[in-house]
Amino acid sequence: MLAICPGSFDPVTHGHLDIIGRAAALFDDVVVAVGRNSAKNYLFTLDERLELMRATTGHLPNVTVAALDGLLVDFARARGAQVLVKGIRFASDFDFELQMAHINAVVGSVETVMLPASSQWATLSSTMIREVASYGGDVGAFVPEVVALKIRQQSSRLEQADG
Ligand code: PNS
Repeated sequence: MLAICPGSFDPVTHGHLDIIGRAAALFDDVVVAVGRNSAKNYLFTLDERLELMRATTGHLPNVTVAALDGLLVDFARARGAQVLVKGIRFASDFDFELQMAHINAVVGSVETVMLPASSQWATLSSTMIREVASYGGDVGAFVPEVVALKIRQQSSRLEQADG
């Protein structure tokens, strides 16, 4: 069975990779759908987020990465996927994801499987990482090295542009 792991992954964290790795162990194949949430200001472009996701999931043979443009259920249907996998940290994630699961079941006839975030990453968020990174803080504990490096490069580019 094929499952989709959707998100904006800005940046991809150890928490995301934990969910993707567990989904890859549960399902035959996984497509990571890297999308755009119009309510968010992004640190990285879609191409950069795709590149970082490919670099950090390359060791998982049954995982592929693709850009998500449009409705998630259309993306799932176009690939013949019947399952969406979502990571759940707090009750607020559940409240939001429950609503999305109902909409996506009605609009696209897809199931949603919710995996509890592993305790080690249970409070991690890309939003917090962007906040720390924007002040030049060290986020190396929360993201793979290739991502931390890209964040450092981005910060120094922004500083040069400012200065
Ligand atoms: O959790 P994220 O990072 O905010 O997720 C972003 C993304 C792009 C995966 C999400 O916004 C999405 O699925 N967008 C596609 C539009 C859609 O299908 N929305 C859900 C039904 S309202």
